Amino acid sequence: MGVKRIGVLTSGGDAPGMNAAVRAVVRSALHEGMEVLGSVRGYNGLIHDELIEMSIRSVTDTIHRGGTSLFTARSPEFRTEEGMQKAVDTCKRHGIEGVVVIGGDGSFRGARDLTARGIPCIGVPATIDNDISCTEVTIGYDTATNTVVDMADKLRDTSQSHDRCSVVEVMGRHAGWIALYGGIAGGADVILLPEIEFTLEDIVRKVELLKALGQREIIIVVSEGATIGGKLLTLDEETKGEVRLGGIASFLSTKLETITGIETRYCVLGHVQRGGNPSARDRVLAARLGHYAVQMLKEGKSNRVVAVQNEQLVDYDITEALDMKKPFDMDMYRMANEISG
Ligand code: F6P
Repeated sequence: MGVKRIGVLTSGGDAPGMNAAVRAVVRSALHEGMEVLGSVRGYNGLIHDELIEMSIRSVTDTIHRGGTSLFTARSPEFRTEEGMQKAVDTCKRHGIEGVVVIGGDGSFRGARDLTARGIPCIGVPATIDNDISCTEVTIGYDTATNTVVDMADKLRDTSQSHDRCSVVEVMGRHAGWIALYGGIAGGADVILLPEIEFTLEDIVRKVELLKALGQREIIIVVSEGATIGGKLLTLDEETKGEVRLGGIASFLSTKLETITGIETRYCVLGHVQRGGNPSARDRVLAARLGHYAVQMLKEGKSNRVVAVQNEQLVDYDITEALDMKKPFDMDMYRMANEISG
């Protein structure tokens, strides 16, 4: 007999398109004659037996909504043996034969651990950071990048009116994808990322050169996790290895204004990037990956992450996927520098 009942959950930081992914999972599973239970607040729903019976109607009117209607959480309890065992017991009690986990790397570690305890899991990559190594693209990244571009365009208007420099801080604690693509598409003059080391002098030199060449507004896009001189900096100079929202932006704008004399303002886009209606690209990606995850469970597969390579759907063993490294696109970064201001 095939799989009769599956679970679905969203976990970790939310990402636009998670609802579209849940919708695809639910409708694909119902199409296959399976029943679906939604776990509320990620793994916490499995631990505390908070499950919702999903129907075609329960995912109606959700495809265009940001956030996640199943709610999400980072679950420290699930990292304990006791928490995991409770989740396994809940799955067994409800006859859940497989779970689709929609989230990032942390969520996939949970999926691997749950699979190892007898509940087959399939991971669907969703995070605005695009920092999941096995896939070219993650659900939410396109929407977040478009938000950055929209905001950068608006900041450019006011920066130009005032002949100012604008420092725009974007998300990405450890990964510069949002900054790189958002920076290129937003026409940034300087892009600062965690993957590349910068000195304050490099940045000052570039800004002064642009001003000398007659440029009115200067746009700097910086990842929250970018470092200067190898250090994470805030106005109190150094954090203790912890990324602080707004830390690098306020530090950089104050230093730039003091050193160059150019009026500088900063804007921390923060969690705005995580919200909003998903783009068409994210909705289609969510539909494809959600549908594929259900096919995997139907075929009796487990401990896999579904992914995109060369625009094709592929899947990897979760453990292997977690060990993979996503090479930073150095050519893209060089190109960005060559065509900036
Ligand atoms: O991983 C997604 C992400 O949005 C990061 O870009 C950011 O650093 C982090 O989550 C913020 O997490 P929280 O919502 O817990 O503040």
